[in-house]
Order: sequence, then structure tokens, then C-alpha cells
Amino acid sequence: MLIDQAIIPIQDELEMDETLDNVLSKLSASQMCKNQFTRVYVDDDITVDKMALAMEQFMLSLVSYDSKYDQWVAGTTEFTASEERGRLLFETEYNPFFQELSGADCAHCHGGSNFENDLYMNNGLDADADFADLGRENVTNDPMDRARFKVPFLRNIELTPPYMHDGRFSTLEEVVDHYNEGIHPSTSLDPAIQATIETGLFLTADDKVDLVNFLKTLTDHSFLTDTRYSDPF
Ligand code: HEC
Repeated sequence: MLIDQAIIPIQDELEMDETLDNVLSKLSASQMCKNQFTRVYVDDDITVDKMALAMEQFMLSLVSYDSKYDQWVAGTTEFTASEERGRLLFETEYNPFFQELSGADCAHCHGGSNFENDLYMNNGLDADADFADLGRENVTNDPMDRARFKVPFLRNIELTPPYMHDGRFSTLEEVVDHYNEGIHPSTSLDPAIQATIETGLFLTADDKVDLVNFLKTLTDHSFLTDTRYSDPF
């Protein structure tokens, strides 16, 4: 649950490596924090539950819905020719028989209005012998989940390099090159990607530019500059 997401990173040794008791005593030492808790919860007794609930509510308010893509869906803006070609490549399936009709099939996994599918998948980053991170298998103990990772959503993706679970790609261009010509075969590789290994995705240099230009339409500038999310201190 999202409320757990608020608490786990505080204690995870790879993230903030803190104790909840210590956080509570730091917050309780601040008059400003106590005032804020009083405003929300009527008394200034700061507890883990109240802190987590407040952070959960804040995260629930973070909704990005005004990218150029959203405006295009609403019919209030037009894509450039390059963005539109990129959109078609993103959404069209790979087709080895008619190359001129073949797309990059990104929407196969990054589909819908959030550009994800709630699944864990293997997108061909490494061959079986080279997995440094077992991915979903670490949680399920199922060898078929080896090297499967959550399909991430792509909104505001332009702004959040580096890419993939280990941050191995620093640009969107490198990501597109990976899908076009860098797939490694492995046991849990997604079959739709597996099918492209022999030929790649047939993307030309122009196609790659178009695809990246489309990905940049997912950047929501009004969300990023919304003062309600600016630093309150
Ligand atoms: C078989 C499903 C699948 C397909 C098809 C696919 N992806 Fe992905 N994508 C993934 C998975 C899984 C990850 C996360 C991998 C990881 O964390 O290591 C990912 C990660 C990414 C990332 C990095 C996200 C981040 O925050 O680090 C980008 C960008 C991306 N994909 C773009 C694309 C594009 C563009 C295409 C089409 C050319 C595409 N994907 C096709 C499954 C897929």
C-alpha cells in the first residue's frame, strides 16, 4: 500500500537508513512540525501512523495530467510531424513481414494512459549468465521471475535519467538503441521482444529521433512548476 511506501524508504539501509524513533524525535523537536500536526490532527502528538498518513495523502495528490500528450488526447494541441510519427512507432506492433508497416511495439508493455501494465517483465537487458540482480525472483522465489522487473510508467521520463533498474542508460537515445539492436536472449525474456532479436526493430536514425520526440511529449511542465509542490521550507 502507498502508506507503506511512505515508511519503508526511511528505514531501508540503501535509502535513508534511519529509525522511526529518531525521525519522531526530530519532528517533535521542531515547533513548526508540531504546529503543522496540530493543524491537521488537532493535537501535536506526532506518531508514525499520523506521519505516514500525511505523506500518503501528499503522494496521492501528485497527479500529472497536463503533458503535451494529454493536451493532444484532449484535442487542444497538435503534435509535430516527428512527434506523431514517434507516437505511431510507439503504438504499432513489430511486423517482420511488412517492414514498412512495422513499429517499435513499446505499447505492448508501456500501454494505456500511464504507459505501464502493472506487470513484471524481462526486457532483454542481460543474458542468463550475466544477471547481477535477480529482480522479481528475489520476492517470489520463482525462477521464471528471474530478471523480471516492474514495467515502469513513462510519464515525465525525459527528466528521470539514468534508466532501468541499475541505471545503465543515461539517455533516451540509448534506451531506444537497446530495444532496436541490443536485446540479449534469456529464459524469461518476453516473447514479443524475443521475436525481434534476429532483425531488430528496423528503426532508422530518423525513426529513433521521432520516438524520443514522442517520449518528450510525456513531460508535464505545469506539474513540474506547480508551486504547491515546491519546497515548503
Ligand atoms: C516486454 C515489455 C517491454 C517492451 C516491449 C518495452 N519495454 Fe520499456 N521497459 C520494460 C521493463 C520491464 C522496464 C524496466 C527494466 C528495468 O527496470 O531494468 C522498461 C524500462 C523502460 C525505460 C526506462 C524507465 C525508467 O524509469 O528507468 C524506458 C525509457 C522504456 N522502457 C522505453 C521503452 C520504449 C521506447 C520501448 C519501445 C521501443 C519499450 N520500452 C518497450 C518493458 C518493456
